[in-house]
Amino acid sequence: MEVVERDIRNFQETIRNNSDYDFTDYSLTSLRRRLTKILMELDMDMDKLAGELRSDHDFLERIVKKLTVHTTELFRDPDIWKKIRTELLPTFREKSSIHIWHPGCSTGQEIFSMLMLLDDMDLLEKSNIYGSDINTDVIEIAREGRYKYHFNQSYLENFDRVLLNGSDNASGDQRKRWKKYFSIDETRDAIQMKDYLRNKPSYKKLDLVKDPNLFQVKFDFIVCRNVIIYFNNDLQNKVFNLFLENLNPGGTLLLGVHESILGPYSKKFLKRDPFYYKQPA
Ligand SMILES: C[S@@+](CC[C@H](N)C(=O)[O-])C[C@H]1O[C@@H](n2cnc3c(N)ncnc32)[C@H](O)[C@@H]1O
Repeated sequence: MEVVERDIRNFQETIRNNSDYDFTDYSLTSLRRRLTKILMELDMDMDKLAGELRSDHDFLERIVKKLTVHTTELFRDPDIWKKIRTELLPTFREKSSIHIWHPGCSTGQEIFSMLMLLDDMDLLEKSNIYGSDINTDVIEIAREGRYKYHFNQSYLENFDRVLLNGSDNASGDQRKRWKKYFSIDETRDAIQMKDYLRNKPSYKKLDLVKDPNLFQVKFDFIVCRNVIIYFNNDLQNKVFNLFLENLNPGGTLLLGVHESILGPYSKKFLKRDPFYYKQPA
């Protein structure tokens, strides 16, 4: 079934008129892909889908949850995490407290990566971690910190690359360092994060399209990776403004490897790859 621009506009308008969500400024390419998948799965055309969205609010909530992409992994892009470890986190050593926000945290693997790294560097205790997403289902998974083992075996490889610095000389004990952070139950096909990590972050539902910073603090580090890639330029600029206003002076922003700040906000940050530092006003 071919989804044309008129279908996408119809879809955006129906969602806008029947809920608090607004996908007007999402990239058309990604909306087209998701909408095509949804219509095929439900075996509906756009008019039927629009009718259901208007008449059934629970259905609308379910469709919104299907619209966004939740792919994530532990220490995704390990080389970036190595730079967080060697270049950024050491600059936080002298601070009495550290505030880190992960907008678009999905199911939490990015947050657990940060928690483990902070623990490994003895910075966990004074750190405050905030996670948010538009989708409450993924936040629930992040809170539970329980993942399928068979999907995530590569986690251990990433873990070794970042926390053991990929060392081939690491001892057997060092190689088992992950045991401090999570347990693996192969028969139940589960990886379970330890409670002291699970209970550390504060989570909130937060829609970057319309919500302000709901955490009532300013941040030293905002990690927003693989989220703005789904937004058009206008929405990206709006989100950069939100981040700028809520970073402490000199605070740092990290985007995904395929994301960057172009346009007016590029002047407001100093880029030292891969980090963006908030410039003084
Ligand atoms: C691909 S995941 C990225 C997960 C993680 N940051 C990473 O890079 O591994 C994108 C996440 O952004 C969330 N998202 C999409 N639109 C959003 C919005 N308007 N406000 C907040 N989160 C949003 C999705 O629900 C999804 O969990």
